[in-house]
Amino acid sequence: MTYFPKDDGQRIPDDLWDAMRVHLPCSPVSVHPLGCHRPRLCDRLVMDAVLFVLRNGCYWNALSLLDLCSSSSAHRRFIEWKRLGFFHRLREVGLLEHGFLKLIDWRWIESESVPVRTPVRRWRMQVSRAVSQSAAPYCQAERTLRVAIYYGSSSGNTERIARMLAGMLHRYRPAVRDVARDGLIDAGRYDLLFLGIPTWNEGQCQPDWWAVWPGLAQLDLSRSRVALFGPGDQFGYPDTYCNAMGMMHALLSQRQVRCLGQWPAAGYRGGSALALCQDGTHFVGLALDEEAQGDQTHRRLQTWVRQVLAECRQLDGGEA
Ligand SMILES: Cc1cc2nc3c(=O)[nH]c(=O)nc-3n(C[C@H](O)[C@H](O)[C@H](O)COP(=O)(O)O)c2cc1C
Repeated sequence: MTYFPKDDGQRIPDDLWDAMRVHLPCSPVSVHPLGCHRPRLCDRLVMDAVLFVLRNGCYWNALSLLDLCSSSSAHRRFIEWKRLGFFHRLREVGLLEHGFLKLIDWRWIESESVPVRTPVRRWRMQVSRAVSQSAAPYCQAERTLRVAIYYGSSSGNTERIARMLAGMLHRYRPAVRDVARDGLIDAGRYDLLFLGIPTWNEGQCQPDWWAVWPGLAQLDLSRSRVALFGPGDQFGYPDTYCNAMGMMHALLSQRQVRCLGQWPAAGYRGGSALALCQDGTHFVGLALDEEAQGDQTHRRLQTWVRQVLAECRQLDGGEA
């Protein structure tokens, strides 16, 4: 179900909510003897509020400035979920990797007390920034961009990265598609396509991409911009590092599809000839390495997403 009463960048993205909701503890049923009890607020709305506080490190009372729910409702539910181990469960199932949850200081949740309050000046700044972002007309313009992420993944790295990316792009509500399951369904409908292609078997495409490769030639991508990302292993396979990303780039270039997001090659050990631009200074997309530089993935992805969106905006003459 899509739920976005107001896309202000502070709401849980749909894909994250779908993954989280299955771990929510059952709500306690409390029935007032006179039947006059207020109905329990919807979990998602309250979760938006709880995560707002946790992500921004602000006072619970800061919620009064936002159109979410009351601070007392949010705080009560936070304590309830915490006691029932919900946040630990999120950690166990790896959801903390999601870009939307990265900002949270999990020491708050570990500790027995409620969140440590940040200095008043800081939370005021944080809240006013969040509120002003939600009112920015540019955000509204950005939402019109239709974005999708297609990935293939054999051992799960590209899938994890794709979900992280979706979290960073949640304002656009990107479609996230595993080509093994969905193929290239609807790919021609999007303005901006992110394609995640890992390299396997010494320079080959990950098998699920192979399976859809012939379909790529028939796809109408005349309206789309494409940004490529590829995890590989630069130390294990320096000569074929990210070659599959390069193969995709070669195919798209032949078809005059606009590719965005070249990434500096400085700081990497290898790179296949196809993955690097002609002068060798840049990769044709974002090169990642979960084996040797996994700790840099989040930061690289964040910088790259900003770069791709800026390039997209530039092409559209200021509007995305
Ligand atoms: C048998 C094997 C062959 C690989 N060959 C390459 C390669 O030629 N070039 C490269 O950059 N990475 C290579 N890799 C590394 C994978 O691309 C890397 O582990 C990637 O993160 C896998 O992504 P996935 O989990 O989404 O499938 C290889 C890994 C294995 C296990």
